[in-house]
Amino acid sequence: MRKQILACLLTAFGLGWGPSAASGQETVRIGLIVPLTGGQASTGKQLDNAVKLYMRQHGDVVAGKKIEVIVRDDGAIPDNTKRIAQELIVNDKVQIIAGFGITPAALAAAPLATQAKIPEIVMLAGASIVTERSPYIVRTSFTLAQSAVIIGDWAAKNGIRKVATLTSDYAPGNDALQFFKARFTAAGGEIVEEVKVPLMNPDFAPFLQRMKDAKPDAMFVFVPGGQGGNFMKQYSERGLDKSGIRIIGPGDVMDDDLLNDMGDAALGTVTAHMYSAAHPSPVNERFVTGYRKAFNSRPGFVAVGGYDGIHLVYEALKKTGGKTDGDLLIAAMKGMAWESPRGPISIDPETRDIVQNIYIRKVERVKGELYNVEFETFKDVKDAGKSQK
Ligand code: PHB
Repeated sequence: MRKQILACLLTAFGLGWGPSAASGQETVRIGLIVPLTGGQASTGKQLDNAVKLYMRQHGDVVAGKKIEVIVRDDGAIPDNTKRIAQELIVNDKVQIIAGFGITPAALAAAPLATQAKIPEIVMLAGASIVTERSPYIVRTSFTLAQSAVIIGDWAAKNGIRKVATLTSDYAPGNDALQFFKARFTAAGGEIVEEVKVPLMNPDFAPFLQRMKDAKPDAMFVFVPGGQGGNFMKQYSERGLDKSGIRIIGPGDVMDDDLLNDMGDAALGTVTAHMYSAAHPSPVNERFVTGYRKAFNSRPGFVAVGGYDGIHLVYEALKKTGGKTDGDLLIAAMKGMAWESPRGPISIDPETRDIVQNIYIRKVERVKGELYNVEFETFKDVKDAGKSQK
């Protein structure tokens, strides 16, 4: 009898033996917080799909631990992200949080990762500042500075003199603008118009008219993944494609996920980015084929951030022998290098940010589909936003 009471008490306080405690120890819980509703839903879908694909390909047991992913929709609203992260950590006892569809969402979760001392794997956010907000953040997406610097140099070297800019009015858009402008104007280029559009459900039409009136050689555009389709529709409707104002920018606007629906208006667009579905490598071919087969759609750069994010978790767990202590996992992730569908990548051990190739690409029709075809590679690019400090 006394033994039974003791067992009951221990179990009640989570200290007991028996099946529930044992299975709890054998499971690694990951809270995947992504936007599955609202304007950024297509990016949340890509992240969720990519994690599922990776787990189907690699199984759900790592270093003897079963991996359980709990998917939650934050609608890309930072207050939701924060509340959901809190619930996942406190109620569901997740040992890792991951996902995020926009910078403000990744930032909202940062203090909670710090407090709980658990890794926060940022699969999609592009403002440089993100990894500085918690020592437990590791990023597998990209920064806007990485590609804006490269397209700024490219534009100046390729006969573009006057540029009008259109960027989403929040941190990554401001990073893209600042880094592009610095490089392009230092090389003699001129900015003739600058507009910022709201992040949520933007109507581009009035801004596009201003772009047209400024008569630039090219328009530098940053909108987050998921918004490129709507942007290009309005660009064509306003006749900007016919007026000879070409689009340049980071590759977010030419998201492979939406590119096929953009039609001929997208042809010839040159952007700098870290991933193209046309990247010629066996690793990417397997990724694209697997994704298409599983979800009947083409993966874009967002999906790659998710695929690499879960890979990072798997490899870190292998290194710690299945231990889930946050500090051990972060230490294991620092400096990790592997071949992603995008090409070779690594985690900078100093900043916990991603180091990767940035490619310059041009939209072409290949075998009946539109692709961003890579034609120049900049190797092992770090975030330019960090070296400033
Ligand atoms: C961001 O919010 O940081 C973000 C989201 C989607 C992108 C780029 C940046 O394509």
